[in-house]
Amino acid sequence: MSGCVSGQLGKNNSGEYKNGMVVSAHPEASEVGIAILKKGGNAVDAAVAVQFALAVVYPNAGNLGGGGFMVYRSAKGEINALDFREKAAASASRDMYLDSVGNPIVNKSLYGHLAAGVPGSVDGMVEAHKKYGKLSWAEVVQPAVDLSQNGFRITKRQASELNGLHRDLMKFNPDGTAFINLESTWKENDLLVQKELANTLKLVQEKGRAGFYEGAVADSIVAEMQKGKGLITKTDLQNYHAAWRKPITGTYRGYKIITMPPTSSGGIALVQLLQSVEPYPLKKWGYNKDSTVQVIVEAERRVYADRATHLGDPDFYAVPKNELLDRQYNKQRMASFTWDAATPSSAVLAGNVKGKEHEETTHFSIVDKEGNAVSITTTLNGSYGSLVVVKGGGFLLNNEMDDFSVKPGAPNMYGLVGGEANAIAPNKRMLSSMTPSILEKDGKLFMVVGTPGGSTIITSVFQTIINVIDFEMPMQSAVAAKKFHHQWLPDEVYVEKDALDSLTTAKLKAKGYKIQARGAIGRVDAILKTKWGAYQGGADPRGDDKAVGY
Ligand code: GLY
Repeated sequence: MSGCVSGQLGKNNSGEYKNGMVVSAHPEASEVGIAILKKGGNAVDAAVAVQFALAVVYPNAGNLGGGGFMVYRSAKGEINALDFREKAAASASRDMYLDSVGNPIVNKSLYGHLAAGVPGSVDGMVEAHKKYGKLSWAEVVQPAVDLSQNGFRITKRQASELNGLHRDLMKFNPDGTAFINLESTWKENDLLVQKELANTLKLVQEKGRAGFYEGAVADSIVAEMQKGKGLITKTDLQNYHAAWRKPITGTYRGYKIITMPPTSSGGIALVQLLQSVEPYPLKKWGYNKDSTVQVIVEAERRVYADRATHLGDPDFYAVPKNELLDRQYNKQRMASFTWDAATPSSAVLAGNVKGKEHEETTHFSIVDKEGNAVSITTTLNGSYGSLVVVKGGGFLLNNEMDDFSVKPGAPNMYGLVGGEANAIAPNKRMLSSMTPSILEKDGKLFMVVGTPGGSTIITSVFQTIINVIDFEMPMQSAVAAKKFHHQWLPDEVYVEKDALDSLTTAKLKAKGYKIQARGAIGRVDAILKTKWGAYQGGADPRGDDKAVGY
């Protein structure tokens, strides 16, 4: 029998399972994954099925028209990482979002056809399945075909999001899409049927990558581009290939961290953060107590400053990986921190920016009976990406071009700044913060973890890990626990409601920390392997997320 945990804040996961577990942002997608595991599929089969299912049931971030990253660990300990991040089109250029005097044009990299990079998800799934899959390709794509063809019942949250986006979706899709309800407003439990998407998925099922990057779907993407002055051509689609990369590894208090290398900044930043706080007795100080918060904020300030300067697509820019991952280097970075007062970000590196938050991406974690583990974070960037649905194809295109540094020093939609390392260039991948990760203890699987959240992704993964390792929380509590975030610039500590008690807040303010209340930070979906060999799920109560095990 299978069971589920869709968490309430702070509630411990009561369900523990021996044979496998799937935790994702949507109940239907988690059920798809567990059904594949029960059928004899392995974690990669389930991951491919969940990726495609999320493209149907969670179109905010689940996607065919976006990209993502996979970190894999086999039951035997083999590790690997797959980069299926989008790429800039061959005709993209460094200043393509700037006006005649060199200023970024508002929203040009965010909405519409020009905001889209060449999608990577379909090729990524083909590659992952070719290397590690056990069931047939047709079997793992089938659940998504069924969900799009027969429809699924939308959640209350989805109904409200689609109603809120009605006008924008109409603007970019005047001929209509399955997401536009012309008859009335969307309500919880309405059936969302996506016939065009079903046809695309059937082509992918039948022809693999050729079903998307060639033929009718490629024609639809290019026709869509021509309508909206986008850049993606047939050649861009044909030339797109996901890349296998060597994972970033590091250690923290005796645990091994296996995480995503560039094109994500997430893995390097995560290991830097863990190294920066390791010398400090967080456990003794306690969860979200003033000393703990101060050390974490100062570590985040320094690591995000490094991110802005040193991280970019490794195929285009020599990322100083070894230097950044050097324990001595990170220790030295913390040497300028004093207990008396907040370090001003301007003293860590110059600059001052302000950005708005907008953080849709999605993460899922999977383990199978043998102990193979998959951690995938995938995205369209903003919620519903560029808002352009490919006519005839039924899928949304990403607005990932905004993750480039559109102009060195100017903030993107997450308020993140960047420089030369992440400047736009033809066929280059834009820098990401996505941090799909897997942890080992004594050579055995310990945790699978990741989250959406734009610039807060790295922070949320980091704090979830220390919640388990330092504060000994069960998985569900570690995921639900309130989080806080600092990203160097702007020089502010963002805190979720009730994350800090009033005394802690007062102490931090007295030292010069600028505390800013904000909404949810992250939406972590994670799995813990307990000492007694069971899988414990953590499904984030900030969304409709669900952990299903058997
Ligand atoms: N699009 C958000 C990220 O990749 O970090």
